[in-house]
Amino acid sequence: MQIINTIAELRVRLRSEGRIAFVPTMGNLHEGHLTLMREARQHGSCVVASIFVNPLQFGPNEDFDRYPRTLAADCERMQDLVDVVFAPTVQEIYPCQQEIYIELPEIANELCGASRPGHFRGMATVVLKLLNIVQPQVALFGKKDYQQLHIVRALVTQFNLPITLVGGETVRADDGLALSSRNQYLLAAEREEAPRLYRSLQLMRDGLLAGHSLQSLQQEAVNVLASHGWEVEYVSVRQRVDLRPVKEEVGDLVILAAAKLGQTRLLDNLEVML
Ligand code: PAF
Repeated sequence: MQIINTIAELRVRLRSEGRIAFVPTMGNLHEGHLTLMREARQHGSCVVASIFVNPLQFGPNEDFDRYPRTLAADCERMQDLVDVVFAPTVQEIYPCQQEIYIELPEIANELCGASRPGHFRGMATVVLKLLNIVQPQVALFGKKDYQQLHIVRALVTQFNLPITLVGGETVRADDGLALSSRNQYLLAAEREEAPRLYRSLQLMRDGLLAGHSLQSLQQEAVNVLASHGWEVEYVSVRQRVDLRPVKEEVGDLVILAAAKLGQTRLLDNLEVML
């Protein structure tokens, strides 16, 4: 495994590679990332992972400064899984003030976008840069960040990028908590409470399958979470195809939620077919 910090060196290294499968990350790797990297091996002869904590996708009061940066440990964890690690500096990715942005669809201002203005614009900007730099044939993103994956899909399709996107299933702890780099912010008592988010989604799914009303299930989930100390940002059932609100309770849907436990914001989702 080779660690490369500059775009110029990376381009030379990848010039003669055949099929590149790419896993972009912000580091602090957990089993979810490693699973994506293992899956990447099935899609390319050369697996590239990037580690870059992208300042553009963090708001002014968010955790950019304290986001865990663990490059040495990350490299150790993925050393048998990837061929090349691209770990650029902020200066390498943003050598000048970024002035050109992609205008994102309205959905980028809903769900997570409602409480994180500019987040998806910053994410899409760096993803487009990374895809241009690495030029993979296949790129893999986790389904845990469902809205992110949706926006990246639209970006790849609408900008005609010759890349196949693969959405990796969410990897969970034994108690159901979706793995996330931010889980380590949780205090011990919060970590015990945290699986309730996924359990609430499962209860909603079961309720939908049993024919209960979406609004009452949604309200019930919000109430239960709030009564256990969660600050709920949203619990929403959307159409998978466009993440628009559900018109009819049929078809391929996804239940999405974001909520804060203490200082830690957690996300989760569950697909359901009615
Ligand atoms: O999901 C992430 O880790 C980040 O949003 C990504 C896709 C690496 C872009 O910074």
